[in-house]
Amino acid sequence: MDIVIVGHVDHGKSTLIGRLLADTDSLAAGRLEAAQAACAAQGKPFEYASLLDALKDEQEHGITIDAARVFFRSARRSYLIHDAPGHVEFVRNMVTGAARAEAAVLVVDGELGVQENTRRHAYLLGLLGIPQIVVVVTKMDRVGWSKEVFERVGEAASAWLARVAVPPRVVLPASGSTGGGVARSSENLWWFRGPCLLEALDAIDERPARSDAPFRLPVQAVYKWVHRGDDRRILAGTVQAGRVHVGDEVVFYPAATRARVRTIEAFHRAPPGLASAGETTGLTLDPEVYVPRGSVVARADERPPQVGTRLAASLFWLGRKPLQLGQEVRLRIDTAAESARLESIARRLDAHTLEACERDTVIERFQAADVVLQLRRPVACDPEADGFGGSRYVLVDGYDIAGGGLVRRVLADPLDATRRAAMQRNFRWERGLVDADARAERLGQRGRLILVSGPSPTRKDVAKALEAALFAAGRTTYYLGLSSFVHGIDSDVPHDRSPEAQAEHFRRLGEMAHLMVDAGILLVVSADVIGRDEWAVLQAVLGTDPTSLVWVGEEGTPGSALQVASDRSVADAVVLIGAWLRESGCD
Ligand code: GTP
Ligand code: MG
Repeated sequence: MDIVIVGHVDHGKSTLIGRLLADTDSLAAGRLEAAQAACAAQGKPFEYASLLDALKDEQEHGITIDAARVFFRSARRSYLIHDAPGHVEFVRNMVTGAARAEAAVLVVDGELGVQENTRRHAYLLGLLGIPQIVVVVTKMDRVGWSKEVFERVGEAASAWLARVAVPPRVVLPASGSTGGGVARSSENLWWFRGPCLLEALDAIDERPARSDAPFRLPVQAVYKWVHRGDDRRILAGTVQAGRVHVGDEVVFYPAATRARVRTIEAFHRAPPGLASAGETTGLTLDPEVYVPRGSVVARADERPPQVGTRLAASLFWLGRKPLQLGQEVRLRIDTAAESARLESIARRLDAHTLEACERDTVIERFQAADVVLQLRRPVACDPEADGFGGSRYVLVDGYDIAGGGLVRRVLADPLDATRRAAMQRNFRWERGLVDADARAERLGQRGRLILVSGPSPTRKDVAKALEAALFAAGRTTYYLGLSSFVHGIDSDVPHDRSPEAQAEHFRRLGEMAHLMVDAGILLVVSADVIGRDEWAVLQAVLGTDPTSLVWVGEEGTPGSALQVASDRSVADAVVLIGAWLRESGCD
């Protein structure tokens, strides 16, 4: 049972846990005595919190910085407890600690009552979708063990939780310092008929069997297996829900390619015939289709995840600078990472007062909002509306988690039909006997579309020179000018540049590029200025196929492109593009 302890700074979280460990004999022999001796040496009274606050800074300042993780066993089961910091500067660490928890304990100081971070943390528990919450009103020794105080503080906390998260399962009084109400009841609490903290923890329900939900395995890594001469690919990850068996037909989203599970590998034990929720496992496939990291594996006979580029989501922002409408951030959902733009803010709330805010073009630090995020490429997820807890995501700024929330719904976008058609084509793909790895080995490369576009008149020369240079370097390449295409395969599509005609041109170009990329070719296409819409159509058709966009000229460079200045010589441009391609993993 994975539990997070949250609450305002100094309200007594670490003390409660320290006491719980001590009173359940969960500490290593001598640990308590050592901590007591350390306090005595510093001339300070012993603090149970010092059993948790391992960092020197934490002990000196008496606050928790990093979410400590401790294990302990009750008579009923074992626990992993995250002791989250209460200081507002460390909300990020609290979110990290809480992200995987099955239940939470919200600690409120009886003397001080509900404070700003009590509210904020409660709000975050709601955002993270933590289903079970226990409220502890602690430091009861400081308020003369007063029933009235307990009821007043407890009710305020319950009312807030009911509004922003879920109502608590139980509200109980305790004192970390004396141990009353922690691992046992206390005479001082004679008026309270409910459980002590330990009993309340033991009464928390295990998460409803996630193994009954549809199978989901986010792909963490793809390893090349070089064991006893065979060289298979292994998809590794932790099964998030459901179960899969050897022989099951599985589908990889967002691409929707499919294969059968050939074997299920386990570390240090005989290969099992099945893997289920919570297990870290590896799958080998038949045939060995190309599956990029970040894909979600589902079973063909179960409900698929949703695939889309527009997510309606709750969002809590922790970044130092406010999040602006239109700003791009990195979104992580399970093992997938994608660039995301804040498309709209439906409702923004102050997490402290829960009042709707006036300006709707920014989300300030520590504020929450209902937003729409527009992703550059599609991800697979299970939104809250589909049950099973919903997909949590985080926003990353550099190495830091700058926010996060819950995907509520996947919204329609204009390219849904195009994308679905491409998924259908992948799903139905008829494979020959030569697999992608064997082909890549023979050619010494993987296929890729390199689209050269932009306003500069040198664009076409650059594209041709690039193909020639790659070819000279031993690559298998092909150059395609858009006009060869438009007057051939596309001769039946009107040349009127209407949106429909453009969409059809680029859909066909995408299908053709997909074939060439699958054949392992580096396809260099030169196209006159392509807009955001056309590039989006191409990407929807190509899905997870490797693509690179080079923009020759200055005006209107799309975000994902390499820009080549128009005054560069063609030879220079080719060198620059070559280096960039190597950097972006083009082999
Ligand atoms: P952060 O991790 O920094 O957010 O604080 P915390 O919630 O973990 O609080 P901590 O357990 O460190 O306790 C803060 C102070 O309150 C310490 O000085 C404790 O001795 C005191 N304290 C905690 N619980 C009790 C209690 O039940 N009774 C009394 N009298 N003091 C308590
Ligand atoms: Mg603490």
